[in-house]
Amino acid sequence: MNQVIELVKRKVKKEKPEVSELGFGKYYTDYMFSMDYQEGKGWHNAKITPYEPLSLDPSAMVFHYGQAVFEGLKAYKTKEGKVLLFRPEKNVARMNISCERISIPQVDEKMVLEAIEQLVDLERDWIPDQEGTSLYIRPFIIATEPCLGVRPSREYKFLVILSPVGSYYTDQLKPVKIYVDEEYVRAVPGGTGYVKTAGNYAASLRAQEKAEELGYEQVLWLDGIERKYIEEVGSMNIFFKINGEVVTPQLNGSILGGVTRDSVIQLLQYWGVPVREAQISIDEIYDAYIKGHLEEVFGTGTAAVISPVGELNWKNISMKVNGTGELSARIYETITNIQLGKEKDSFNWIMEI
Ligand code: COI
Repeated sequence: MNQVIELVKRKVKKEKPEVSELGFGKYYTDYMFSMDYQEGKGWHNAKITPYEPLSLDPSAMVFHYGQAVFEGLKAYKTKEGKVLLFRPEKNVARMNISCERISIPQVDEKMVLEAIEQLVDLERDWIPDQEGTSLYIRPFIIATEPCLGVRPSREYKFLVILSPVGSYYTDQLKPVKIYVDEEYVRAVPGGTGYVKTAGNYAASLRAQEKAEELGYEQVLWLDGIERKYIEEVGSMNIFFKINGEVVTPQLNGSILGGVTRDSVIQLLQYWGVPVREAQISIDEIYDAYIKGHLEEVFGTGTAAVISPVGELNWKNISMKVNGTGELSARIYETITNIQLGKEKDSFNWIMEI
């Protein structure tokens, strides 16, 4: 690391939560990284300061037109006390793809990666090392210019905050129940489905509430035109094992290209397990289910890791799947072992801090 970022120290450190209390995204560490953007000046004012509330003008454009992008990645602590990041360069590169779509100026990827390393290094003591825990890293950018005109902001703030986390769902390997929604859509061709922008998540909340009211934990989205082709689940990409072959929806412009999704595809190819990215209709899944060929369903994501799916409800038909399948369990074990430095990193995915 060669970049020196100004550090403003805090006087009193926070008390750290008990590991059993962690959950997901409830606690934040002592420090955060921030930098500002101004038209004509570029990104500047990079610093690490105590974690604290922001002061923004009520007319800051993010509040009105939602110009905001974010990322999510994790730092892991090994039993020997080493701190490892999992493919962080993929997240930083994806952030620039999101910025391009939402008309936010590009960030210097090398600089941002170094800022993340420096912040995580400073907060090493906050990284839990119990199984299933990690330090969730949330970089994000918001439009800060005070203006009510609809146009790209000329000022932005980039921040990185850190949150020690347990599993995203209550129980990591407990199969989740998923509701296939035909009323709402998440994305349409030409829209923003392939990027991590706040509005995608805001637009998903009503369907998520509806699924919960019906007793389901997540929504499976179908395509926005025919409401037929499978896209992704609320906070993860989705995989199906049918007759020995693994299939996942192909990246079509309205699906998020997950880092875990990509890692799982590479891992399956390495193991010689047939895996295919394809357009998959919900009817095909139902057909496989009826014929007894739907062997496993699982979601993948940074927050969700590998999450087995136990039930898919489509048109009030409840398709029950074989809980935590053998393949999902093997993938979970291998990915988490690589992330924790317990297994050889044959893919060069790990960056030690
Ligand atoms: C992630 O997996 O990192 C996500 O961003 C999903 C969700 C928590 C928004």
